[in-house]
Amino acid sequence: MIDEIFDRAKKSITKSRNLKELDDLRVKFLGKNGEISNLLKNLNKLPKTKRSEAGKSLNQTKIIVDNLIKERKKYLEKLELENLLLKESIDISLPGRNFEIGGLHPITITLNRIQSIFEKNNFSVEIGPEIENDFYNFAALNIPSHHPARGMHDTFYFDSKTVLRTHTSPVQIRAMNNNTPPLSIISLGKVYRCDSDITHTPMFHQIEGLVVDKNINFSQLKGLLIDFLRSFFQNNNLAVRFRPSYFPFTEPSAEADIECVICNGDGCRVCKQTGWLEVLGCGIVHPNVLNVVDIDAKEYTGLAFGMGIERLAMLSYGVDDLRLFFENDIRFLRQFK
Ligand code: DAH
Repeated sequence: MIDEIFDRAKKSITKSRNLKELDDLRVKFLGKNGEISNLLKNLNKLPKTKRSEAGKSLNQTKIIVDNLIKERKKYLEKLELENLLLKESIDISLPGRNFEIGGLHPITITLNRIQSIFEKNNFSVEIGPEIENDFYNFAALNIPSHHPARGMHDTFYFDSKTVLRTHTSPVQIRAMNNNTPPLSIISLGKVYRCDSDITHTPMFHQIEGLVVDKNINFSQLKGLLIDFLRSFFQNNNLAVRFRPSYFPFTEPSAEADIECVICNGDGCRVCKQTGWLEVLGCGIVHPNVLNVVDIDAKEYTGLAFGMGIERLAMLSYGVDDLRLFFENDIRFLRQFK
């Protein structure tokens, strides 16, 4: 009887096709009510003389069947894994999921370009805070509290003494406090004015430049700005003109125009038919400003200039709406990669 059960167990274990079938066989033969277990339970019904012999061979059979099941299990597990791997194999000919690679914002590209042009000419970069106090933003720049120029700045105030800087000019003061002349610095960054329409955004970017040295004059200022503009607009013959102007922190002061880069000076909508585009303010640092930082205005001269980055970016890329820079429309930004 036990031999017959063993034969059947062995055959069906060898034929089992998966782990489920195999487990059913384990229950069928070795489970609590399995065929072999039942025989073991019924041993006491045998005559005493045969019990020990039968018990021995039953237990041996149980161990052998158990081993057969374990071996088969290993084999079936391996098979299942192989099938799984086969099914889940990766089709390397399928196109992958792409990550879009970002690019620099056109304003950042413009800032970087401007910075590298000045760095080639030995200017170093100074950074100042965007939250400024009244002293650096105004008073030290010869704009006392009663000065009408304050009205032009549409200032965001935190309190009566603390503002969001309205221009990068306060970095001039910080730079002269931190360095002894001769010095050549630029400072690029965000500035804020409470103003918003087609041509103004509450936040925009400026670059400030300052050279302090002995025996320098307006000619050097003109020369360095003309060189910068020609190199920025990549046109060695770009026409530049200087017009007298007014800034409290420079005397004399000027604004510079370039020939319109859209119509090459013929007159168009962008230059309002004048052929010229205003691009920057500049001048000789006012003696009152040098006095604030204890630089002797009789010995030293300061050349200063300031420009709006968005304006330069618009002109160099031919973008005709300032707001495009701030809308973050990926279709617009993608063009500058
Ligand atoms: N700070 C001025 C503005 O925001 C720009 C400027 C003009 C800066 C003349 C200068 C300068 O350094 O000399 O409009």
